[in-house]
Amino acid sequence: MSSVIIYNQLMKILAIETSCDETAAAIVEHDGQKLNVLSNVVASQMKTHAASGGVIPDVAARMHTENLPAVLAEATNNGQLTYDAVAVTTGPGLVGCLLIGLAAAKSIVLAKNIPFFAINHLEGHIYSVLLENEVEFPVLVLIVSGGHTEMILMKKHLNYQLLGATRDDAAGEAFDKVARLLELGYPGGPAISQIAEAGDRDAFSLPIGLEEKANLEFSFSGLKAAVATKVKDWPQPMAQHLKADLAASFEKTVAETISRKTLAALAKYPEIKTVALVGGVAANKYLRTHLEQALNLAHAGLKFIVPGIDYCTDNAAMIGAAACYRHLFGQSDSWYDVQADPNLQL
Ligand code: KG4
Ligand code: ZN
Repeated sequence: MSSVIIYNQLMKILAIETSCDETAAAIVEHDGQKLNVLSNVVASQMKTHAASGGVIPDVAARMHTENLPAVLAEATNNGQLTYDAVAVTTGPGLVGCLLIGLAAAKSIVLAKNIPFFAINHLEGHIYSVLLENEVEFPVLVLIVSGGHTEMILMKKHLNYQLLGATRDDAAGEAFDKVARLLELGYPGGPAISQIAEAGDRDAFSLPIGLEEKANLEFSFSGLKAAVATKVKDWPQPMAQHLKADLAASFEKTVAETISRKTLAALAKYPEIKTVALVGGVAANKYLRTHLEQALNLAHAGLKFIVPGIDYCTDNAAMIGAAACYRHLFGQSDSWYDVQADPNLQL
């Protein structure tokens, strides 16, 4: 990272993330040049939630309580790996889930009397970019996850200007809902992506939400409704090859939507030097390639960054990364005053 570092005392940060259905802990440091991930553990609840077709908040919270001690033991190598501060996700997310991580983080901070960082989950997704890459400002960050679809302009570190968000469903939510319509199970993203590989991407014509060029907002509810209508129009059960065609056409439409909105933002803010795609849906291979090609065609000199797949879906290394930058710029929080906030804004 090329920016000036104001506060230069090195610090290893234990980060905890329990906002939804992954119980995660990591130790991250910034060595003055770059971020280093010293440990990174994620206990996924995916199998349990797949059985019920989606995340049941009470079940997720209970599983965090059960899994977090072992996750913390592994992330600290049973106490062998030391750390100087604790960071935790305080929102947005499921309140019962956030509280488990927050209570654990506060307990450690109280017992050890060390610095504390309250991190916004979206700030974590944004800083996942810095785990393996360098950026040049201004950066356009596209957050595409299960709960959010937002374009954010970062002119410098820890500075976020919202350019546009979804008016209804998030991109990941659309993947999950379409997967349910096609009876592909939960989570929808990976299931759709897998079946779409064998499908014809032009088989179905589907609508792009808020298509007007200058509009930087997203909408995916019309796309989801269009898929629902196509499913209803076919005799049931729908043949596997038709499901593949519909999944492929849906995936192409989402990728096209995100690419067009990105190009519209670049037209409005030509000073942007880096585009970063983050969040669970950024794990989608077709989207990654589609957006990269669109950017190469229109803006050859631009830097395009997508984190490694494990840093796209929820993890604690990204929370540690955001905390490291908060520390570098002289910020921290008082653990006593911080509460979980399911609707926390950036
Ligand atoms: O960022 P994330 O792990 O959790 C939230 O903060 O929401 O994102 C989860 C979302 C889910 O909706 C899931 O279906 C989607 O990311 N997802 C994918 C893929 N992997 C996960 N969507 C499309 N393609 C994928 N390969
Ligand atoms: Zn997330």
